[in-house]
Amino acid sequence: MNQQNITIIGLQWGDEGKGKVVDHFCRQAEIVVRYGGGANAGHTVVTDKGKFVLHLLPTGILHPDIQCLIGPGVVCDPVGFMEELDSFSKQGIVYTGRLFIDYSTHLVLPQHKALDRHAESLDSAKAIATTLRGIGPAYSDKAERVGLTAGDLLDSRRLRQRIENYIMHKRPQLVALNERQLLDGDYLFDYLVPFADRFVNSIGDVTAKLKEALAAQKRILFEGAQGALLDLGLGTYPFVTSSSTTIGGVFSGLGVPPSSQGEILGVVKAYTTRVGNGPFPTELDDETGRNLRDKGGEYGATTGRPRRTGWLDLAVVNRAAYMTGATGIILTKLDVLDGFAKINICVAHEIEEKSNKFPPLHGTFIEKAKPVYQTLEGWSQPTSGLTDYDRLPLQAKAYIEFIEEYLDLPVRHISTGSHTSSLIKKP
Ligand code: IMP
Repeated sequence: MNQQNITIIGLQWGDEGKGKVVDHFCRQAEIVVRYGGGANAGHTVVTDKGKFVLHLLPTGILHPDIQCLIGPGVVCDPVGFMEELDSFSKQGIVYTGRLFIDYSTHLVLPQHKALDRHAESLDSAKAIATTLRGIGPAYSDKAERVGLTAGDLLDSRRLRQRIENYIMHKRPQLVALNERQLLDGDYLFDYLVPFADRFVNSIGDVTAKLKEALAAQKRILFEGAQGALLDLGLGTYPFVTSSSTTIGGVFSGLGVPPSSQGEILGVVKAYTTRVGNGPFPTELDDETGRNLRDKGGEYGATTGRPRRTGWLDLAVVNRAAYMTGATGIILTKLDVLDGFAKINICVAHEIEEKSNKFPPLHGTFIEKAKPVYQTLEGWSQPTSGLTDYDRLPLQAKAYIEFIEEYLDLPVRHISTGSHTSSLIKKP
């Protein structure tokens, strides 16, 4: 295993606070790579320079010496990408010469966003409640082999042919949307040209760059997006995203060999949130849940939607940790639990009177699973902003040690606030 690289993956339903964690580990990295997902992600980093919300850009963009790569497994919304870069440029971030997108990275088109909106509008009771960023339709087109890629932008003749092919294949679906522009190849061509012109020198072979970097023993950080429970194939389908968010996504999304990933840090929030629909056994639809939402600022970084909240579900985290091969845990937002007299932790799912510490995520089971709780003492002293493990209240330490024992994994760091400095390295 490559010892110096780090992979950071969320072990819940996303929004575990990965942005801050990735930003911290950027200090040890020379290259930061996004391997999956798209602008559905929302990684928030709060530094002395202000608050940055990243959607598509690797978090390394905030560090001037880091090379940032967007791999073939990502889907890139060209317009969103330019807007994000422009807003960071205004905040003093320089990206030229250190940001690259792979030839095979698929493009999110206006058609994808329209199809996402349409699918979500069909039946609100059955909707997934996606981020409406066009993610599902973009990955569908990739699987159907009709999508457009960043590399297609490098040759206008090829781009026109790919657009023609795309519209021919998608015509039946696009006609149903009743928006003429979506069937207009010239419109799509003109829409893509500003991105092509601006990034012609930034589109390249990310797999080859990584091969070179691995040979030169450069330190690489693989930045996960979303969370393991949202994995297309392994998560709580159909209430998932459309990419591979577990460890396999690193390899299939970048073309690097297994062992490149280095240490795999699983990010776990001290309680659970979910944005969008789908099963959530420990959900609290009560005062405690509202309290967690307000104290934790649990509103989507991408969509602003209020997140659903509940107690920490260690049973699903246990499964997620296994599916990602986590070698250590980063526990985030511990301070949000300050002031709760008692704290519940779900240690198993009970389904038809059988309890399971490695519960299936298929809807047949998880939708009717009852959480089995263990209740721990809370703490009243504030932990917000603490950076020293010894200063944590005993009950908070007991909470952390309970998690370590249950998962049989070390908790390496504990986050105690949104600022990058609010982090404890566990001795
Ligand atoms: P999509 O990825 O926009 O298609 O949304 C599918 C599901 O994944 C929805 O429940 C979204 O709320 C959820 N989702 C997608 N990206 C994120 C994320 O970065 N954090 C949390 N949930 C996400």
